[in-house]
Amino acid sequence: MPRIVETIVTTTNAKGEAHIAPLGLIADGDNWIIAPFRPSRTLDNLNEVPFAIASHTDDVRVFAGCVTGRKSWPTCTAERVPGMRLIDAVSHWEMAVERITNDQQRPRFSCRLEYEASHRPWEGFNRAQAAVLECAVLVTRLSMLPPEKIENELKYLEIAISKTAGPREEEAWGWLMEKIDAWRAAQV
Ligand SMILES: Cc1cc2nc3c(=O)[nH]c(=O)nc-3n(C[C@H](O)[C@H](O)[C@H](O)COP(=O)(O)O)c2cc1C
Repeated sequence: MPRIVETIVTTTNAKGEAHIAPLGLIADGDNWIIAPFRPSRTLDNLNEVPFAIASHTDDVRVFAGCVTGRKSWPTCTAERVPGMRLIDAVSHWEMAVERITNDQQRPRFSCRLEYEASHRPWEGFNRAQAAVLECAVLVTRLSMLPPEKIENELKYLEIAISKTAGPREEEAWGWLMEKIDAWRAAQV
């Protein structure tokens, strides 16, 4: 399996409007593949404007926020390609689409790195951040996974939250739990 980096991808439509979404970038030699499921705005935007910016952030509220309807995170203009990046990024990559592999379910856009920059020091691993990322992925798959699997994974992820979360991770977890509670209520 290739390495996958979970990051915040911004794309732009033909009108110049930016869109933000968490996506996994798949290693492809020196390139990175963006593989958005159909239908999605990221997919439409990449077809309209073939550039993407990956903002690597340690603020997991951005991941949890994007999957719970909180998409308004501060951005600024990218350096070399059309589009925006997160202001609060540890580092970011600016990419140009080089090859498109079409697919009924999940087209793949192989992107060449045009520019990269670091903005502040990385502050190390934190288990609660990883737990929020895993939970954000679960939240995007609530309708696809068996409820039992979701509940079991949550039990495990909660351990890292209770032992290692700081205020940002607590807040992100709270947003995700609101979504999980609504899903639980709809089960009965
Ligand atoms: C950590 C993480 C990784 C994700 N990776 C992908 C991905 O590789 N492809 C995808 O289509 N959706 C992925 N998702 C779900 C998208 O963020 C979500 O469906 C998003 O809304 C995309 O649709 P949009 O472009 O219309 O906003 C991921 C979500 C999370 C939290």
